[in-house]
Amino acid sequence: MNTQQNNTLECVRPPVHEKKELCDLDYSQDPPRILSNYLVHAPKPFNAEPHLPLLVNAGLITPTDVFFKRNHGPIPDIRLEDHQVYIGVQGRSESQPAEWKALNMHDIMTRWPKATITASLQCAGNRREGLAQLKEVKGVIWKAGTISNAVWSGPRLCDILKDIAGVPQDLHNEMIRNYHVSFEADDHVKEDACYGSSIPLRKAMDPLGDVIIAYEMNGQPLTRDHGFPLRVIVPGYIGARSVKFLQKILVQPQESTSFFQRRDYKILPPWIDSSNVDTAWDTTVSLGEMNVQCVICTPMEKEIILCPKPVTVKGYAISGGGRAIYRVELSVDGGKTWEPVDKIEQTPDKISGMYWAWALWEKKVPKILTTSELVVRAYDSSGNMQPEFPIWNYRGVMNNAWFRVNNVTQMPQPNM
Ligand code: MTE
Repeated sequence: MNTQQNNTLECVRPPVHEKKELCDLDYSQDPPRILSNYLVHAPKPFNAEPHLPLLVNAGLITPTDVFFKRNHGPIPDIRLEDHQVYIGVQGRSESQPAEWKALNMHDIMTRWPKATITASLQCAGNRREGLAQLKEVKGVIWKAGTISNAVWSGPRLCDILKDIAGVPQDLHNEMIRNYHVSFEADDHVKEDACYGSSIPLRKAMDPLGDVIIAYEMNGQPLTRDHGFPLRVIVPGYIGARSVKFLQKILVQPQESTSFFQRRDYKILPPWIDSSNVDTAWDTTVSLGEMNVQCVICTPMEKEIILCPKPVTVKGYAISGGGRAIYRVELSVDGGKTWEPVDKIEQTPDKISGMYWAWALWEKKVPKILTTSELVVRAYDSSGNMQPEFPIWNYRGVMNNAWFRVNNVTQMPQPNM
């Protein structure tokens, strides 16, 4: 696209969402799902994680009907033909109104080259259960399945921001170093007028950052559950920044003012709980990149294995910021002794070389006794390792303690 085409776009006024009362949120038009694939934590809004053995056995690319589903309100019913995406730039002061341009889905799908990125999304609340066991936390009590990996396609956000919002490409430019890009969805949620979030402008404009505006998932148009017709994919970041049902993109000097950027998805200090939480939001940074994580998906806690042969222990590992998984270690004696796993499968992005997709790993264990405690931990390419014990925080986010599985019974016991 050249500047000529950009100049022909008129300035417009985007729609403004009003916050709805809880009782006015209508879930009757939510799409059908294969419920047997999921542990459903809440039907309204629909929040569900796939069963761990199904997730890992589905392979490196998670099928869409197995992919975890995380929502804060009803799934909007948007028509592709009607959908407009508003792109704006805010002046230095909040009083200066933003200038907005509108694009339709045809523009989005044809004006820029289509990039294809394989990236995992992981909710910051993955494994919140482990923190809830220590002390009260706020949020859905997710187990370890709030992560999945898919192939996403759409234009690069940096191309759109350059052409439509006139954002400079020089990464040393002061604007790129200091500004943010905020996203708003065309939905209604419990906590705010709509779902919203932001990322630093430098992540959006970094050609190796691979932020895309996806209209396809696993080679098909996005499904409604995963953001139809358009969503942001921010690889290497917590899933909360990958806004679904994307309606507005605004380049602005400050982070998004959305509830989900300012009052959620932060690691609050350990002395903050429900009694004093309002004192801490403004002094705690918003989460961006994921930390290093590793989980055993099979066997599961209390599983009975009816086979005397060696057991293949399988799981996933991931880190944020495009860092590779460098080593995965398994212990069968509660962490006293460790061995590297037999196989780690992880592929970097073909163009940027960044590791946005999870690693799947496996290890054959000759025998599992009822007294065995399986423990796994991973290191990433920056040498970050998971902590041995969970670090409690009131929002229950970013729990990446060593993952433990107990009470597995193998019958008949080998060599008996
Ligand atoms: N976007 C909108 N519009 N509404 C949402 O509720 N949830 C966010 C993010 N984007 C959300 C959203 C969170 S917290 C996560 S983890 C991911 O979407 C989940 O994406 P998925 O449902 O496609 O797995």
